[in-house]
Amino acid sequence: MRRLRQDANHLISAGLFLVALAAILTGVIADLWDLNDFRWHTYAGYVMTAFALAHVALNWRKILAYARFRLRRSRPNTSPPRPRPKALPHGPLTPAVVGRAAGGALLSRRGVLGLGVGGLVGVVAGRGLRPPPVIPGGADVGVVYHEWSKPGVLDAIGTVADWGKRPPQYKQYPDANIVVLPEPNLAGQTLVEDAIVERHSTRDYSGAPMSPEELSQVLFLTAGMTRSGRRTHPSSGALYPIEVYPVVHNVQSVPQGVYHYGIRDHALERVRSGDFRVPVVRQGLLQEFLGECNVVLFLTVIFQRMRFKYRDRTYRYGLIEAGHLGQNVYLAAESMGLGACAIGAFLDDEMNRMLGVDGRNEAAVYMLSVGKV
Ligand SMILES: Cc1cc2nc3c(=O)[nH]c(=O)nc-3n(C[C@H](O)[C@H](O)[C@H](O)COP(=O)(O)O)c2cc1C
Repeated sequence: MRRLRQDANHLISAGLFLVALAAILTGVIADLWDLNDFRWHTYAGYVMTAFALAHVALNWRKILAYARFRLRRSRPNTSPPRPRPKALPHGPLTPAVVGRAAGGALLSRRGVLGLGVGGLVGVVAGRGLRPPPVIPGGADVGVVYHEWSKPGVLDAIGTVADWGKRPPQYKQYPDANIVVLPEPNLAGQTLVEDAIVERHSTRDYSGAPMSPEELSQVLFLTAGMTRSGRRTHPSSGALYPIEVYPVVHNVQSVPQGVYHYGIRDHALERVRSGDFRVPVVRQGLLQEFLGECNVVLFLTVIFQRMRFKYRDRTYRYGLIEAGHLGQNVYLAAESMGLGACAIGAFLDDEMNRMLGVDGRNEAAVYMLSVGKV
């Protein structure tokens, strides 16, 4: 029985050592690549915990003996000093003997030096693997964000303790008036090469009304849900943080107003009704064509849809994804003989208020005019 216990003890020690190495290695990988869901690290952690508990269970007598030995040592000692043994004494290896030897080794000058050097090497190696970014003096906020959002950058000064949970995938307006959109036409004649090569920004619109079919087609090609359940644009982690809000100025049989594009049902949900040409021109820093086109598409990002996974990189990914939708708008418009223009100059707060979003959890990041030429 005793032999069996010793064998188990040795096996568990070896296993603990190996699995601790695996946990360290996978932890470094997860940290360097900002992987917040790295299964191998989680599994290594669980197995390590199991080994550690088994190790404690098999060695609790030694641990108790050592604790008793330490407690005895900390009481004031009135007896004359004993010469310290240089190595383990001869004779049976009782728990008390092993405990005394281990404690002595740790508290010796060499032990303290070893612990210090080990700790220092760990800190230096850790910092070396994840160096803080070098930010030149006078850098703008974009440079600061860009540097700090690189994977592998030490986030010791980060203040985020909890990156939150994944929110619902679809925004809903249960009480909104719904405008059902016609089915999009997926048998177009324009070559993708032609659409890409001919694409351009249009700021002159004819003022003729757009048809609901045209609006439907533009919205579907911009952000619609495809047969596979995915979208017409890529999304990091397929998390789709972008919402589309068409502000309708002049579309047949669609009353003027602010709408939300319901991607699942390919329908419009009315957020506010009315003529928004004047406020939209003001929001776009008085670029008049924003009131002369037929519809202005506002793109927002719901940050938490990505933040729980991509943390500091969320903002980058949100803007990149908005850019994908923007190019879809251009190509869709080109293929249908419509005009489009991207707008980056706008008054964020006023825009967010019009869309009914708080500008913090969900914020407008892009607007595009679309219309008849
Ligand atoms: C992010 C971004 C912001 C833009 N902002 C504006 C804008 O505020 N007003 C405008 O008239 N055009 C804007 N544009 C359109 C550019 O002026 C246009 O793409 C550029 O002049 C090249 O012309 P092209 O699109 O016809 O090839 C923007 C384009 C992008 C990509």
